This record gives sequence, structure tokens and C-alpha cells, in this order.
Amino acid sequence: MSNILTETQRVQSQAYKDLLAYVVTNTISGEIMAVNNYTTMVPLIDDVDEKIHVVKQARDEGGHVNALSKLAAHVDFPTMKGMVEPQWKEIGRFVKERAREGDLTACIIAQDIMVETFATVAYTALQRNTDKHTRSLAASIYLEEVAHLQHGVDQIHRMLDNDAEDVHRAFEMAHKAVMPAMMSMVNYNCFSLCDQLKIKCSTVSLGVIEQDLDQLRIDAIDTYMEKIDRIGLDPNRVAPLFSSLVDDDPSKWQPKNKDDISGISCCH
Ligand SMILES: [Fe+2]
Ligand SMILES: [Fe+2]
Repeated sequence: MSNILTETQRVQSQAYKDLLAYVVTNTISGEIMAVNNYTTMVPLIDDVDEKIHVVKQARDEGGHVNALSKLAAHVDFPTMKGMVEPQWKEIGRFVKERAREGDLTACIIAQDIMVETFATVAYTALQRNTDKHTRSLAASIYLEEVAHLQHGVDQIHRMLDNDAEDVHRAFEMAHKAVMPAMMSMVNYNCFSLCDQLKIKCSTVSLGVIEQDLDQLRIDAIDTYMEKIDRIGLDPNRVAPLFSSLVDDDPSKWQPKNKDDISGISCCH
């Protein structure tokens, strides 16, 4: 008898459900952070049409949280509605701090460019080798994330025309604060996620949906660099920042604030 599982057997296996629990709960955390980030940004926006647009983006992200939670109930895997991993808390804190300083530019770069880049890559990955319910939801969320990313690119492009120095300053600051944390999220070495979901770290493995994490990180860097090029940032100023993305080992990322780790440390 062949050892190759049929699609039905594979998606009903415990390993598949554990992996989806891990990925989808992490994605829900990112979506909750996005709701927080957009609502933090809204009071800083003077233009009423733009303000309304960002409120709509916050509502989109809230819809993603609820749709992903429903998916979990339907496909039957555990999930949580909360921000579990410390990276999300650190990125959220960066956006809050910059908002407190009135630095809307850094907030837009962090959320609309950096976080949304990873969102598009994550929802592309969730359309590969998954079940039909997950594929179809990931495809519809993907389209909204692409629109958020494009909106951010257009906004920063306009801001660059007005004050290039301010955009480069904000970009450098956001890159250093957000990108190492985002890169480390593309990893199966969680801090406490498996523990909180009551799944075994060892069952969360690449083989189940044949995702190549190195390739996912490369896809994220490619998308990021393409958007930076599209915005029109000065290559001489941004190029030195990119080397750390390629050279750093993402599993080495550690939270600055130990209180950000909830639950029992598991896979690290
Ligand atoms: Fe989203
Ligand atoms: Fe989004």
C-alpha cells in the first residue's frame, strides 16, 4: 500500500490541523495588531477621506480575525483570538510610540508597507497545499491585503514628494524596529504558541504542507524591495539596511520585553 496520503487523508490528519492551528493563530495575532495599528493612526490623519479609508482598513482586519476564527471552527482545529507571540506586541508598541510622537509616516511605513508585505506573503502561502476552505478564504483576504499594501505605497510615494528627508528618517527607524521581528515570525520556533494551543512543537513541521520557510522569507524580502523601489526611496540610503535582512538568523530574534512572553516557553 502506498504511503502517500490522499488530499482528504492529509487535511484530516492531526499534523495538518496542528500546523494550521499554529499558522492561523499567528495570523490572527497579526490581524489584531493591524486593527490596533490602524485605529492608533486614525486620530493623526487630517484628511477626512483618508481617515475614513483607514477606518475601513481597520474594519477589514477585524473581518479577517472573525473569518479566520470561523475557518478554525469549520475545519476543526484550535485557535485563539489574542496576540500570542511577543513580536506582535513589539511591533504594536513601536506604532503606538511613533503615533504618540505624531510620526504618522513611520506608522504607515511599519503597518501598510512592512506588515502588509508579510500579510500578502502569508496569505499566498496559505493557498498552497491547504484544504479548499482555507484556500478560498486566504485568496479573498489576500486581495484586501494587496489593496492595503498598495494604498501604503501610494501614500508614502506622495509623502516622499513633500518631504524626502522625513520619509527616509521614518523608513530607517521603522525598518530597524519592525523587519527583524517580522522576519522571525516566518519560523516554527515559537515562544509559547504551541503551549497555548496545546499542540506538540514536534508536530508543527514543514512536511505537512510542504512550505519552504527560507523561500517564504525570500518572497517577503523580494516584495519589500519591489515596493521600496516603487515608492522611490533613495537606493543609496536604503541598501545598507537590507544586508541585515539576508544575513541575520531569524530564529535568534529575542523580545526586548520579557513580559511580552505569555504562557510556558515551548519551541525556543
Ligand atoms: Fe488582514
Ligand atoms: Fe491588511
